[in-house]
Amino acid sequence: MTTMSTTDLRALIRDVPDFPKPGVGFRDITPVLASPEGFHAAVSGLTELSREYRPDHVIAAEARGFLFGPAVAAELGAGFVLARKPGKLPRETVSVEYSLEYGVDRLEVHTEAIGPGARVLVHDDLLATGGTARALCELVEAAGGEVVACAFLLELAFLDGRERLAGRPVHALLRDD
Ligand code: PRP
Ligand code: ADE
Repeated sequence: MTTMSTTDLRALIRDVPDFPKPGVGFRDITPVLASPEGFHAAVSGLTELSREYRPDHVIAAEARGFLFGPAVAAELGAGFVLARKPGKLPRETVSVEYSLEYGVDRLEVHTEAIGPGARVLVHDDLLATGGTARALCELVEAAGGEVVACAFLLELAFLDGRERLAGRPVHALLRDD
């Protein structure tokens, strides 16, 4: 399959004003999933951004991190690690609390999913304030792994989320300034 340009890929993402609340410009990535060419371009673009880091694992958070993450992991020859909301994982977990726009939330990962010294790529569909990705980095490090890079489909650069990931390489296939 030929890969579409990043311009065409960005055009698939729909900007929805005032969702889920007034003042928020929501980026709806669902049309990327609905387009075979779009999904292929997203997965291959994310894979090429990440290949040089030779990760053992890709980690992502539910729900939207699970859309591209497993496919990118498979392309990289890496395993996929699920970070889930509290109470969903059945075995021993490590967890971190993180801040949202309103209040706090928690993410958990199976303790044994990331071995000591494992090279881990943090992935999400979108980098906004950076709270979710930072929590993923902290989970990896709490489990003894090393965050080798962070890779996003779309970065909302005007929110400065990458500042919260300081010290780790941050890449985004698409960027809104
Ligand atoms: C979205 C998105 C990222 C996060 C980015 O997830 O998928 O995980 O927000 O925002 P941040 O950089 O400010 O943390 P959301 O929390 O809306 O949950 P969902 O994946 O279940 O839709
Ligand atoms: N998650 C956080 N901010 C978002 C936005 N503006 N659009 C889509 N998902 C988001």
